[in-house]
Amino acid sequence: MASLLGATLKAFRLVWICLAITLPSAYGFEKRSYEYKPEDIITRDVCIIGGGSTGTYSAIRLRDMGKSVVVVEKKDVLGGHTNTYVDPATHIPIDYGVIDFHNLSIVTDYFTRLNVPWTTAMFPSTQELYVNFNTGKVVDGFAPAGQAAFAQALDVWISHLEKYPYLSNGFFLPDPVPADLLLPFHDFVKKYSIDALVYSMFEYRQINILVQPTLYVMMNFNLDLIQNILNGFLTTASHDNSDIYRNALAILEKDVLLSSHVIWTDRDSSSEYVKVGVETPSGRKLIQAKKLVITIPPKLSNFKGFDLSQNESSLFGQFSNVAYYTTIVKHDGIPENLSVVNIGPNTPWNLPTLPAILSIYPSGDPGLHEVKFSSPYELSDDAVKAAIVAEFNQLHTGGAVASATTPEFVAFDSHTPFEFSVPADAIKDGFYKKLYALQGQQRTWYTGAAWDVHDSSLLWQFTETLLPAIAA
Ligand SMILES: Cc1cc2nc3c(=O)[nH]c(=O)nc-3n(C[C@H](O)[C@H](O)[C@H](O)COP(=O)(O)OP(=O)(O)OC[C@H]3O[C@@H](n4cnc5c(N)ncnc54)[C@H](O)[C@@H]3O)c2cc1C
Ligand SMILES: *[C@@H]1O[C@H](CO)[C@@H](O)[C@H](O)[C@H]1NC(C)=O
Ligand SMILES: *[C@@H]1O[C@H](CO)[C@@H](O)[C@H](O)[C@H]1NC(C)=O
Repeated sequence: MASLLGATLKAFRLVWICLAITLPSAYGFEKRSYEYKPEDIITRDVCIIGGGSTGTYSAIRLRDMGKSVVVVEKKDVLGGHTNTYVDPATHIPIDYGVIDFHNLSIVTDYFTRLNVPWTTAMFPSTQELYVNFNTGKVVDGFAPAGQAAFAQALDVWISHLEKYPYLSNGFFLPDPVPADLLLPFHDFVKKYSIDALVYSMFEYRQINILVQPTLYVMMNFNLDLIQNILNGFLTTASHDNSDIYRNALAILEKDVLLSSHVIWTDRDSSSEYVKVGVETPSGRKLIQAKKLVITIPPKLSNFKGFDLSQNESSLFGQFSNVAYYTTIVKHDGIPENLSVVNIGPNTPWNLPTLPAILSIYPSGDPGLHEVKFSSPYELSDDAVKAAIVAEFNQLHTGGAVASATTPEFVAFDSHTPFEFSVPADAIKDGFYKKLYALQGQQRTWYTGAAWDVHDSSLLWQFTETLLPAIAA
């Protein structure tokens, strides 16, 4: 009898151990068994995951609304896609990530709060050399659409944007979703003959917009953006956008946990707090907060240890994304005022075939050039660097660039995952209604580019609308 019971218990324990290891509850096991010392328990009104554009904005605004906050950021700086390289020789700062902001009061109010002076963003006029990067040969006779054709196509585009005012602050779509928004953008362009816009839109978005449902192009190439293209964007007066995030960090101080990541979350509705286990450089901490704001890209692999609901998992699992890389290279073979632009000589609307370098353009610091690289899928940093070097070699072989120098990488950052989207069928099926229905459930709110648009100014606007409920 005793041995049978023992064997059963042993078998049971074995099963239990297997479960604890294989199921997400492995994290539950860890959190129950780990003893947090009182000094390692952080109690706040709001815990914010991700200290990029929207996470930092949320933290500052909620603080100013009288709430206590804590931010968990995996990198050792705030700012997300913001990258600034300061040349040690010339001290010239080069923003090779986020550059410009909309001329909106939400932006100037935020900059005022952070004590960051701003100015009109000026883009140096450069000469453009259109090259097929596959061959390294200059594409003779290529010219972007003329001004008249561009203006006419832009008018048509604006008249379409004006039909969908509900897209101005997020994916607030009606049911049924208008058919034009679901068309692959390629088909929309043909249907409405806005060919003259395609190249500029691509230059702005830098990803393969032709395959996207038109909805995403409308979200990105929106009325507010067009107004700023026509009237001028803002940027920091120092031309060092990292100032925004340094100043924010100086205000938030110890309420930011840098180089830290979430190990587990527990949003059990019977508890007074959302609990978040965090690994930090000074050891493991337990955050208990009344509300949770998640700003990290909603890719399932980014949520290891989170107690996602079935709805959260199934919605986030539908997203796909592209990849994008920015870098500054030292190279002596390209004139200081020249942009070398990748053109597909025989592709629809001359868009280059990705993955590839999009353009090589002057950084404003002699000898240094900014290189943008776009890929439909994720690549390792080394693979991207190797591809860039190979394309520079091709530019030399083909004759577009005189010097055979190998580019030297002085700065590099991966902005991957970039541009979250779901297929037209999912959009038609109410994906964004279901996604937005997550807001406020399990005391959790979501913001960030996947929830609106890859544009800091407009994301601050989107985030602002959530704050009253988060602060309530
Ligand atoms: C190269 C580039 C240039 C751009 N230029 C402009 C521009 O000029 N103007 C403009 O308005 N917009 C620009 N954008 C778009 C804009 O920067 C983004 O839309 C904006 O940064 C998105 O904000 P976010 O809060 O969603 O994400 P992010 O700013 O990316 O913030 C997310 C943060 O979460 C952190 N994180 C990720 N995973 C975890 C994790 N598991 N745990 C903890 N932390 C995590 C990240 O390190 C990051 O700091 C640009 C984007 C790119 C890629
Ligand atoms: C921002 O727009 C306002 C008009 O709304 C204008 O007066 C101002 O000059 C613009 N600012 C910059 C720096 O471009
Ligand atoms: C999950 O999603 C379904 C379908 O959208 C919805 O009916 C249900 O209420 C959601 N469940 C929760 C707990 O939010």
